[in-house]
Amino acid sequence: MIKTDFLIIGSGAAGLTLAVKLAAKFSHKKVMVVTKAGQAESNTKYAQGGIAAVFNLKKDSYQQHIQDTLNAGDGLCDKKVVEMVIKNGPLRLKELISWGANFDTNSNGKLNLGKEGGHSKYRIIHHKDTTGNEVERTLLARIKKFKNIEILPHHFAIDLLTNVLQNKKNSKKVACQGAYIMDQISGDFFTIQADFTTLASGGIGQVYGHTTNPKVATGDGIAMAYRAKAKVKDMEFIQFHPTAFYDGKNGVSFLISEALRGFGAYLRNKNGERFMLNYDMRTELASRDIVSRAIHSEMKKLKHNNVYLDCTHLNMDDLRLKFPNIYQTCISKNIDLKKDWIPVVPAAHYLCGGIMVDKNGKTSLKNLFACGECSYTGLHGANRLASNSLLEALVYADRIFKYVNKKAALPHPVSSVTIKTNNLPTYQNANSILQQKIKLQRIMRNYAGVVRNYNDLKIAALQVEKLHKTLEKLFQEYKFNSALYELRNMVEVARLIIEHSLTRKENKGGYFNKDNAILSQRKTESILNWTLSLKTKAAKK
Ligand code: FAD
Ligand code: SIN
Repeated sequence: MIKTDFLIIGSGAAGLTLAVKLAAKFSHKKVMVVTKAGQAESNTKYAQGGIAAVFNLKKDSYQQHIQDTLNAGDGLCDKKVVEMVIKNGPLRLKELISWGANFDTNSNGKLNLGKEGGHSKYRIIHHKDTTGNEVERTLLARIKKFKNIEILPHHFAIDLLTNVLQNKKNSKKVACQGAYIMDQISGDFFTIQADFTTLASGGIGQVYGHTTNPKVATGDGIAMAYRAKAKVKDMEFIQFHPTAFYDGKNGVSFLISEALRGFGAYLRNKNGERFMLNYDMRTELASRDIVSRAIHSEMKKLKHNNVYLDCTHLNMDDLRLKFPNIYQTCISKNIDLKKDWIPVVPAAHYLCGGIMVDKNGKTSLKNLFACGECSYTGLHGANRLASNSLLEALVYADRIFKYVNKKAALPHPVSSVTIKTNNLPTYQNANSILQQKIKLQRIMRNYAGVVRNYNDLKIAALQVEKLHKTLEKLFQEYKFNSALYELRNMVEVARLIIEHSLTRKENKGGYFNKDNAILSQRKTESILNWTLSLKTKAAKK
């Protein structure tokens, strides 16, 4: 068992920002960051477009950024949270710049501001088309300055340690005391006990297989929090990015940044029509839910697997300069932007819901915080406005830091952690894990994607439940490796997405159910009863 003051799970923008702040303030205390792959691997590293914040008060205002965020969120944002995050944005960006982040500037030295879907003004701060890499680089360089930060790459957080057993009757007393960890290189299992634990474990894109997210985005933190009985909210709101590169495969897809549409690229269908003109006044720069559904509908109508992004009318010298990564990647895929259109499709990109936190990043469990994409703060509502998520991670890392700063002097929770010893045989069948993972991803793509309906969701619920049952049985019989732990977490997340989808009665933002528009109250009730019976059955098993 290892003891630390602060445990952070995840080394993306959320986890590293918090680590830097805690280490700087509490030089006598220890901050441990565990992360399951190399230290830079994260959604953060692949962020392209940038970070939204109001810097040009002559042409933009907090009010306009707030309004754009509320519009994208389709009535489900928490307005106070939106105001707090957006007004804090410029300060957090200045802090990141003071730590060494380089963002693109104009000839007058002022930040060069880009535009993306749903934004009424130019306000996206960026580093060419590799903003996330710059953020990750800056933060990893910064943490090296603090001797009291220890980062453990290739360490997998399996579950949270809580005193739930001692507090079965009073859930309000349940506190988090750290996490159960596996060293992925040595295969050793151990516990890290901490006074304050933060989940900063990122997104869930891998649950769909076809995603812009890297392999690490398997929803582990959300599944861990849910198993520990923390509250989780709005899991039905999956954001599908409209323009992932289409290569006919269903794995991780290279993102074609929305900033390229902000720069003037057009979406065209197979017949060459600029179809967004028929769907929304903002055309290619409507919010992502609208553009993704429009693409889905064009693909169905024309029986074609993708649509296209046309850059041929744009100034190629400027484009190359602003989007070098996209330009080069397209070349490597034999797409010459001067004359070829880029084949694109929507792909799972971002989870708007997650572990429920208050305005200080506190979850419903004592001493457990959540930050960044794994959390639900109320900022995004039913659909995230582009480039608001790195912003959220930076602002909430600061909120958690400030809260902990006030509370750190409080007596530490009395801990009675039992260390799990696992003498079971290791599960060895790698092919079976892969097959089950592929099956889960296929179910989620086919039955819980951009456009859903109740029948499909019910099919998904039954099939995912079967996978869940199989995995829970294996869990009792074998020692797991990280691939199996990830699969277990992905199945848990899929169950949450389906359950929350089945209970959402109206279409909002990123959640669209074809049946909702035509459902009678009676049918809605029968579906709710069906969901309830499924949950009761699952609980009995
Ligand atoms: P992440 O950066 O994903 O970090 C999560 C960390 O947790 C990783 O280090 C991971 O390895 C670790 N982890 C996960 N599970 C475990 C476990 N069980 N044990 C130990 N460690 C674990 N947002 C914007 O605002 N602007 C953009 O331009 C933008 N572009 C994007 C482009 C792409 C291609 C993608 C995929 C996302 C983009 N986003 C963008 C979204 C944004 O990048 C993410 O929402 C944000 O980076 C999340 O940061 P995070 O720190 O919460 O999580
Ligand atoms: C993009 O560059 O299109 C992604 C931006 C985001 O997800 O916020």
